Amino acid sequence: MSIFPPSPDSQTGLRALRAMIRQRSPLAALAVFHRELGDVFRVNLPGFNPITLVGPEANRFVLVTQRDDLRWRAEHDPITRLLRNGLLVIDGDWHDTMRSYMNPAFHRRMLAGYVEAMVRYTDQISAAWDDSPRDMLAEIRRITLLILVETMFKVDFSPEMDRLWPAVLRLLGYISPGFWLIWRDMPRPGYARARRQVDRYLYGLIQARREALLKSNTEPHDLLGVLITTPDLSDDLIRDQMLTMLIAGHDTSTALLAWALYLLGCHPTALVQARTEVETVLGDALPTLETMTELRYLERIINESLRLYPPLHIGTRTAAVDLEFGGYAIPAGTRVLYSPYLTHRQPEYWPNPDCFDPDRFLPEQSHTRPAFSFVPFGGGSRICIGAAFAQVEAKVILARLLQGFELELLQSKVYLHMGVTLEPRPGVVMVARRREK
Ligand code: HEM
Repeated sequence: MSIFPPSPDSQTGLRALRAMIRQRSPLAALAVFHRELGDVFRVNLPGFNPITLVGPEANRFVLVTQRDDLRWRAEHDPITRLLRNGLLVIDGDWHDTMRSYMNPAFHRRMLAGYVEAMVRYTDQISAAWDDSPRDMLAEIRRITLLILVETMFKVDFSPEMDRLWPAVLRLLGYISPGFWLIWRDMPRPGYARARRQVDRYLYGLIQARREALLKSNTEPHDLLGVLITTPDLSDDLIRDQMLTMLIAGHDTSTALLAWALYLLGCHPTALVQARTEVETVLGDALPTLETMTELRYLERIINESLRLYPPLHIGTRTAAVDLEFGGYAIPAGTRVLYSPYLTHRQPEYWPNPDCFDPDRFLPEQSHTRPAFSFVPFGGGSRICIGAAFAQVEAKVILARLLQGFELELLQSKVYLHMGVTLEPRPGVVMVARRREK
C-alpha cells in the first residue's frame, strides 16, 4: 500500500524559510526539504502542492518510464499561455511529430555551419569591450540572442536588439516562477504589450521568408525555412515554435555561460588551465566544430558549471493518472517536479557536492556514476533538442573570449536567482582586458 509523501512540519518550514532568506533563493528552501524529508516530499502552499522527486531513479521515472502519464502542458501556466503550442509545452504523439519536423535543424552537419555565426557574434559584441567593468550576464545574453536568431531563422537580429531587448526580458519575467503559482490571475502589467511587440516581429519574419522562398528554388535547412516548407503548418504554429526556440534557446545558454565565467573568475588555476588548452589547440585560429572536440578541459568546466548551476534547475509535469514512486502515492492531477539541481548535489554520486571540481567529468570518474545522475538537458524523448548546439556554442564563446581577453571577476558574491533559468545575480561583473597579440 502506498503512502503520501512527507511534507515539512513547522520546524522544517522555519529552517527552510531561514535558509531562503539567508541565501536569497527558494532553492535553499528546497535543499532543506530534501535534506530533512528525503528524495520524495510534498510542499504545501495555498493552491500549490507539488511533489518533488529527487535522484537518478526519480529522473528516469519522470523522463522515461512514466513519460506518457506525466504531462508537460499545464493549461493555465504562463509558459503555456505564452508558447501556446510550442514544442516545449505539448505532449504525446503531437509532440513527437512536431519534434521530428524540427530535428533536422539540429543535426550535426548543421552545427558545423553554425560555428561561424557563433564566432562572428562573439567578436561583434566583444569588440565594444574596453577596460571598464561590465556585467557578463547581459553581454552573453546579447551574444546568444544574436546566434539563436541567425542560426534558427537566418536573420541578423542586431538592428532589432535595442528595440526588442526590454520586451524579451519582460516575457522571461512573465514565465519565471512567482506569485502567480498561488495567485493564478494576478495582474501582469506590460506583458501584453511585450508579447504583441515580439509577435509582430516573428510574424513579420514568417511573412518575409514565405515570400523569399516562393522566389527561390533552393531547399532551406534552417529551422524557420524547414517549418515553412512543412505541409500544413499554420503561421500561428510556426510562431509558437519560433518563440519557443527564442526563449528556450538563448536564456539557458546565457545562464550556463554566465556561471562558467563566474566559476573561472573564482578559480584562477582553472582559468589558466583552460586558456593554456585553448592556446595549444587553437593558437590564433578561428574555432571550428572539429577543433572544439579537442577542448577536453573546457568541456569539463562546462559540465561542472551545468552540474553546480543547471540552468533548468527544476522540471515540472502533471500526473494524468494515479501513480506511485518509491512506495509513495502520486494522485492524478498532482504537480510533479524533478530537480537537476538537487540531483546534482547528492553526495552519494557527487562527493563534496558543493565544491568546484571539473575533473569529476574525466571519463574514468563519469563511468562510475549511474545513468540520470547528471541531467542538465533532461532525458528520454523530450531531452533538450538543442543540447548539442548548446554545448558547441558554450565552447566556441568561451574559447573565443579566452583567446582574446584577460578576464577578471570583480565581485564574487552572487546569489542564485530562480528565474526561468538559474542566474547569478546581481550579475557577473568582470573586467575583460584585450590580450596583446
Ligand atoms: C545550456 C543550455 C541549455 C540547457 C541547460 C537546456 C536544458 C533543457 C532541458 C532540461 C530541457 C528538458 C525540460 C524538461 O523535459 O523538463 C530542455 C528542452 C528543450 N530545449 Fe533546451 N537547454 C539548453 C539549450 C537549448 C538550446 C540552445 C535550444 C534551441 C536552440 C533549446 C531548446 C529546447 C527545446 C525546444 C526543448 C523542448 C524539447 C522537447 O520537449 O521535445 N535548448 N532544455
